[in-house]
Amino acid sequence: MSVSIQWENLGFDYMKLPFRFISYYKDGQWDEGCLTKDATLHISESSTALHYGQQAFEGLKAYRTKEGTIQLFRPDRNAARFQATADRLLMPQVPTNKFIDAVKQVVVANKDYVPPYGTRATLYLRPLLIGVGDVIGVRPATEYIFTVFAMPVGNYFKGGLAPTNFLVSEEFDRAAPYGTGAAKVGGNYAGSLLPGKYAKTHGYSDVIYLDPATHTKIEEVGAANFFGITADNEFITPLSPSILPSITKYSLLELAETRLGMKVIEGDVFIDQLERFVEAGACGTAAVISPIGGIQYKNNLHVFYSQTEVGPVTRRLYDELVGIQFGDIEAPEGWIVKVD
Ligand code: PLP
Ligand code: COI
Repeated sequence: MSVSIQWENLGFDYMKLPFRFISYYKDGQWDEGCLTKDATLHISESSTALHYGQQAFEGLKAYRTKEGTIQLFRPDRNAARFQATADRLLMPQVPTNKFIDAVKQVVVANKDYVPPYGTRATLYLRPLLIGVGDVIGVRPATEYIFTVFAMPVGNYFKGGLAPTNFLVSEEFDRAAPYGTGAAKVGGNYAGSLLPGKYAKTHGYSDVIYLDPATHTKIEEVGAANFFGITADNEFITPLSPSILPSITKYSLLELAETRLGMKVIEGDVFIDQLERFVEAGACGTAAVISPIGGIQYKNNLHVFYSQTEVGPVTRRLYDELVGIQFGDIEAPEGWIVKVD
């Protein structure tokens, strides 16, 4: 079967594909799970996911190679983070092999929707874990649903590799110190909708959040991590217990060091010291690498490399990362998992 989609024009939007995976947890164990055509979840009105936010999600992509095969990028890392999030919210872990197997089944069942090589589009996979069943007190559910669905996507931020501007939120935090900032839970994103809307209606791609305790250091760039490049060939990214540990960021830290010969640092990124960076970017599964043109903080727009062109180091990092993901460049051991 061939599907008629304008792959090059895809944004980051929901599309209902033929198949998704679903598995139920009851009486202390997961069932085997299966693929289904039913895109609607049927759950109790008292589900803890609905009332108390007892839910977790992940995001990863399937890539079509030049040879036409399909591959995943570090899905074991997503499985591990999904387990860490589950632990934080007292939900049962989805074992790594079950997680990767479910992802593979969804990719294979929807393989006509994995975008062709060369379009830069990918199949985005969304694993989701929710507390369901009849509970009304604030306590963990006894039943859970694990599902994985998918859709083809293009750029998350409109610019793609063209730099865009971001706005520092002075009024809102993304996460509390010792809260759930490091877990991939929906509540973190619900709280980001209002500042995100403000930023977008004022012409910015998204919000930059500062550390919630002192409001002096960069933490997150919307749904992506921050990195900056110095004139001394350093790759610097924030270190904080309340940011999401981005798989893309940790991959870039390794690639910057081992393949680009850069000095890599996880540390403080003070908002009043942006002049130390010659380039800056946002990184994540959805964001890939999105160059930051400028950061608006109070009354000042701090411009990095350029407002119109991606900087040379960001470009090299992008080429290395994306080259590995699409199978054009050899990956470090264990990073690529073939689907077919
Ligand atoms: N930060 C937040 C808040 C995110 O939602 C994401 C997306 O997953 C990231 C960072 C990037 O993480 P990753 O590279 O694992 O996709
Ligand atoms: C991802 O990059 O996978 C994310 O989860 C970002 C998303 C919230 C759109």
